[in-house]
Amino acid sequence: MTDPDLHVTQARLRRKRSVKWTQYGDDVIPAWIADMDFPVAPEISAALRQIIDMDDFGYPPANLNDRAAKAFCNWMTTRHGWTPDPARIFVGSTMMQLMHAMVMMFSEPGDGIIVQTPIYPGFLSVVAQNNRRLDENPLRRGNARYEIDMDGLRRVIDPRSRILLLCNPHNPTGRCFGKDELQAIADVALAHDLIIVANEVHMDFVYAPARHTPFAALGAEIAARTITLSSTSKGLNIAGLRCAVAHFGSEALQTRFKRINTHIMGTPSIFSIVGSEAAWKFGGPAQDKILQQLDANRRLVAETVRSEMPGMAHFPPEATYFAWLDCSALNLKQSAAKFFLDKAKVALSPGGDFSSYTDKFARLNFATPPEILSEILSRMARALKG
Ligand SMILES: Cc1ncc(COP(=O)(O)O)c(C=O)c1O
Repeated sequence: MTDPDLHVTQARLRRKRSVKWTQYGDDVIPAWIADMDFPVAPEISAALRQIIDMDDFGYPPANLNDRAAKAFCNWMTTRHGWTPDPARIFVGSTMMQLMHAMVMMFSEPGDGIIVQTPIYPGFLSVVAQNNRRLDENPLRRGNARYEIDMDGLRRVIDPRSRILLLCNPHNPTGRCFGKDELQAIADVALAHDLIIVANEVHMDFVYAPARHTPFAALGAEIAARTITLSSTSKGLNIAGLRCAVAHFGSEALQTRFKRINTHIMGTPSIFSIVGSEAAWKFGGPAQDKILQQLDANRRLVAETVRSEMPGMAHFPPEATYFAWLDCSALNLKQSAAKFFLDKAKVALSPGGDFSSYTDKFARLNFATPPEILSEILSRMARALKG
């Protein structure tokens, strides 16, 4: 049973204009792009409705950005035990925009950018599109989870390596890296004079007993070389509003960033700032409900894969609402995502988008009411029984 606040029908979802529910035909259930299907918290909708009711569509003043920055800092303090400095925050539009901006401002063409693959495809494109070198550090498959290959990390670094683009929690594997793992990365960054760009957009989806550690919270020395990127676009499901923040762990980093031509960054709209401020100010209880539902969903996926999809391998995620499904042993004649699209009418994210070696994987987004998730899983199980 879904919590009534999180309930939504397929019929309603199919009336949306956003890409998740419009990319495929009505016979397909989408479980791909990282939007959740749950309704948005009423506090956020109310804040947005006020803008409409007042025809408040004029130029947003700069202090609106400051309000969003402060709300983010309070959220980080209360939910993640780390207090960023609001004065060190740049408010932008999207995580991808900020990742591109950081790569442009903190490295030169040809420099190495370290990435732990498989990885959210935007990490690969930010390296390629800025003509940087991909320093690939594949995660190792452990017994119950994927792990950072620390020897591999040291091996991949050379004098042109500049930035470690960290994804924590990690999309698509669902790893929430522990303090010790992050500290090991920090030690390498300090030894090799790397800048860390920490993409922490999935920070609010961590299942107990795991706990999110903001990278910059490891200590002053590492914070001084860390740029933290985050957003409430995932946490409270408002990706379409387009607001993300960058926090500079030192004045030197912030000063260097300020050389950017801010005009090409655009400015977030009044909707995006007010919506994000409301999310960070009032979204705690809604976030808790969502996480509880996702935890139940994560268990449902694990149980169904184990009992109904023999041969499919899957480590239940410690964080995120993704199940990273290893279909290598299924001997499918096509990529895993294509198989499930054709035979199950379920749209997953193709594993091949996340690295050159994961074509036999697919990523399932399980952030949907359990009734819809059950339908997704039974369609997949039926297709495999074929
Ligand atoms: C790790 C990560 N970074 C960035 C993005 C994209 O965020 P945005 O739409 O704000 O660019 C996503 C979306 O799924 C993501 O998972």
